[in-house]
Amino acid sequence: MSDRVFIFDTTLRDGEQSPGATMNLREKLRIARQLEAMGVDIIEAGFPAASEGDFCSVRSIAETVKQSQVAGLCRAMPADIDRAWDAIRAAAHPRIHTFIASSPVHMKHKLNKTPDEVLDMAMKAVRHASQYTTNIEFSAEDASRSDWEFLAKLTQSVIDCGATTVNIPDTVGYSQPDEFAELIRYLLKNVPNAHKAVFSVHCHNDLGLAVANTMAAIRAGARQAEVTLSGIGERAGNAALEEVVMNINTRPTIYQVTTGIDAEKLFPACRLLSHVIGQPIPPNKAITGANAFAHESGIHQDGVLKNRETYEIMTPESVGRAGTDMVLGKHSGRHAINQKLEELGYRLSAEDVTMVSDAVKRLADIKKTIYDEDVEAIVLEEIYRIPDKFRLMHLTTHSGTTGVPATAAVIMEVDGQERKLAQFGVGPVDATFNTIAEIVGVSPVLERFHISAISGGTDALGEVTVKIRDGKRTAVGRGADPDIIIASARAYINAMNRLAKKTEETTECTAP
Ligand code: KIV
Ligand code: ZN
Repeated sequence: MSDRVFIFDTTLRDGEQSPGATMNLREKLRIARQLEAMGVDIIEAGFPAASEGDFCSVRSIAETVKQSQVAGLCRAMPADIDRAWDAIRAAAHPRIHTFIASSPVHMKHKLNKTPDEVLDMAMKAVRHASQYTTNIEFSAEDASRSDWEFLAKLTQSVIDCGATTVNIPDTVGYSQPDEFAELIRYLLKNVPNAHKAVFSVHCHNDLGLAVANTMAAIRAGARQAEVTLSGIGERAGNAALEEVVMNINTRPTIYQVTTGIDAEKLFPACRLLSHVIGQPIPPNKAITGANAFAHESGIHQDGVLKNRETYEIMTPESVGRAGTDMVLGKHSGRHAINQKLEELGYRLSAEDVTMVSDAVKRLADIKKTIYDEDVEAIVLEEIYRIPDKFRLMHLTTHSGTTGVPATAAVIMEVDGQERKLAQFGVGPVDATFNTIAEIVGVSPVLERFHISAISGGTDALGEVTVKIRDGKRTAVGRGADPDIIIASARAYINAMNRLAKKTEETTECTAP
């Protein structure tokens, strides 16, 4: 059996089904590039038949990504498969991923089909897909609650029809590690043509076991893991890519497998996702949380100072968290900055490197120490910010303890036109948001406001994420600045720009 585990990332498909994690086309492309740079084997770009927007983004990702395979999901129906193929055909390595449910409860109540009808649909779907490509994945949705004998028959049949990857999802996160491993072993033993396909697993986290089930399945012989960055996904999410990879890397004698992932890109990729979807990484999140490598108790600190291995099973550097090293300053040249950017997983054009380098110098004028996190914040702020309809030019606020309401005076550019206004609020952030909303002419509901310090010290960059809602449309925005009121204003305006962009995007792609 091969010792290589393929990493199939579905952040852009299952991950995007996570509440509040919708991404626009530019954001999806950014994530796709990061996944490719990290060494992900297969990027599931979306579900092309779901909507015109999905079709367009899958097609754009297929046109952009060169190294990784690009998969398009489709139901086991000819029209869905044709649509998926149209979206991915431009990819250097396209994969059709077709699925149908195989559990009694899904077949009876969702599909209203008998097992024989499902078997027939699955075989026809794979045959239909094989007119386009030999790279076909078949998923038996809700496999973990399916009858094992039926699952074995289904698996054998789709492999006979041309499926080269067979995915066994724990769709509702119901399985337990031993049981799930047993199922994989059973299939590998009882499906006569099992050696002709890669067995894959796709585990949901409803009982908090997505990673444990994935790891158990790998030990049992699965050789593809379907995962998402930070474990985002439908309901409680999917197995987290960074956790699966670091389990494999940290316990080589247990798993005895390798992946193609450059682990030093794990943290930058998860941070990028967090910025894009506006959901902060929880502090206690394994691998990437702020506390994952922090040692608080005296005994632990003492141990780590004497020898890191006392309480550290992996180093922060190994997952791309340089964290406490001072990296750049006022005198750093473009070359050093570019090297740092590459280290952090960003491949930028010469023009963009100059933009980052100028911003680093501006920040170095007001902040003594520049950390990796500061550089990342600058990249996200300067390079990846979507072209702005609304732009902040000047902001002053006044607040205090005198009982007088806080005031904000804002000068903004709206479609190139300068606008100014002053407003009151219960505090400086409220006054700033009221003023901006009035200038822009919308009054969205503020659903989330989160503020954190990006690096240590009182001169740290403050990072603000907001989520706003205007009717049915929602948008997240983020902003970073050493002044937290300015960071808040930037985040709010960023969200306003994204809200405006969402309306434009629905007409941007003219899908055939
Ligand atoms: O959870 C699931 O079963 C899925 C399939 C479509 C692979 O997402
Ligand atoms: Zn899923």
